[in-house]
Amino acid sequence: MRLATGRVATLQGVLRPPSDKSITHRAYMLAAAAEEPSIVRNPLLSEDCSATLDSLCMMGLEVEWPSDHEVRLVPAHAWRTPDDVLDCGNSGTTMRLLSGLIASRPIQATLVGDESLSRRPMKRIIDPLAKMGAQIEGEAAPLIIQGSSELKGIDYESPVASAQVKSCVLFAGLRAQGETFVREPSLSRDHTERMLEALGVEMLRGEGSSVGVRGGSKVASFELDVPGDISSAAFFMVAAALVPDSQLELLDVGVNPTRSGIFEVFEQCGIKVLLENERVELGEPLADLGIRYTEVLQPFHIEGSLVPRLIDEIPILAVLATQCDGTSIIRDASELRVKESDRIELIAEGLRAMGAEVETFMDGLNVSGPVRLRGAEIDSDGDHRIAMAFAIAGLIAEGQTEILQPETVRTSFPAFEQELWRLCVV
Ligand code: S3P
Repeated sequence: MRLATGRVATLQGVLRPPSDKSITHRAYMLAAAAEEPSIVRNPLLSEDCSATLDSLCMMGLEVEWPSDHEVRLVPAHAWRTPDDVLDCGNSGTTMRLLSGLIASRPIQATLVGDESLSRRPMKRIIDPLAKMGAQIEGEAAPLIIQGSSELKGIDYESPVASAQVKSCVLFAGLRAQGETFVREPSLSRDHTERMLEALGVEMLRGEGSSVGVRGGSKVASFELDVPGDISSAAFFMVAAALVPDSQLELLDVGVNPTRSGIFEVFEQCGIKVLLENERVELGEPLADLGIRYTEVLQPFHIEGSLVPRLIDEIPILAVLATQCDGTSIIRDASELRVKESDRIELIAEGLRAMGAEVETFMDGLNVSGPVRLRGAEIDSDGDHRIAMAFAIAGLIAEGQTEILQPETVRTSFPAFEQELWRLCVV
């Protein structure tokens, strides 16, 4: 596979972005935790979500595919200890959320990941799970978890705003004794809370953002049509805003307010997004989006509680910043350093190679614009969002931009290149 882009005349057409990665992971896991079979339509078919599904199957979940776009999931009466290691691949969501489900069952499992995932911090889930009574060996992958059906509920204050930590603890709390609460410094994506509530689990609300579940709560079976992923749509939203004369319509996009911080950045820049056909699917709001080329762009400022609401969009928003008239500021985003790569460094390296002016900080970046980008060779270091962000940057750069390790897009958006060429008018 080769991913190389250059200037295009415009982007036109309609795109149904790939289904939401966070919701697909949770749908598979909640189906495995339910007592009756569930149906998931339009799950995201990507490497990350396959890692979750394959791991659940190794613990007893049965899977039938009535068609390519629909999966019927039959949960095991009791989860079993897997015969082999659970390979979470590149997926932090798989490793962190599954840990909560495994820790609260009387089984043992070893979770492994690829080189990137093996470097990522796991203490953030080990600490609360250990407090609940689970035994976990390792501070990073591989993790060996000895679960128990006698975990104790806790009131946990997470030092990071992380939906993966929050979901892990809530999943474990579903089978712990008493109530389990999680607090976080600012609200991270709340898909777990919304989906649990829609599946009949009473969500307990404590002080501030504190949210909890009662041990022994039953998860109802369900039918779900997974909405499109706003984090994947974001690459095309920014492309439409940057490439002259473009106009794109993006269908079925999840617009959960804990994920749609990009709309606030667009507002600061002066980019208009038209929302139509708004509806709700299993507690999740979605809409069709219309977006077009915007000639003059104002710089933006991202900090504080906005950060978790657009954390995965920062690579492509940094590309947008190169075309804004002034310095855009991104702070309070040190989590970027422990994503699939150190995204602060890779964004800065790539943008500088393309001629942009970037200053890095421990917790963010300043990007000054507008600059005329020039094509460059970009090492994605196996990070899907870096690969896609720079492929989009290439559309407005002089010369060619070649992405190294392009196959990483399979993590979240396997048809990225195909969709890009379908919508580009050269
Ligand atoms: C995710 C949460 C976020 C996000 C990741 C998916 C999830 O990570 O970056 O791509 O599905 O819960 P953190 O919760 O670690 O911030």
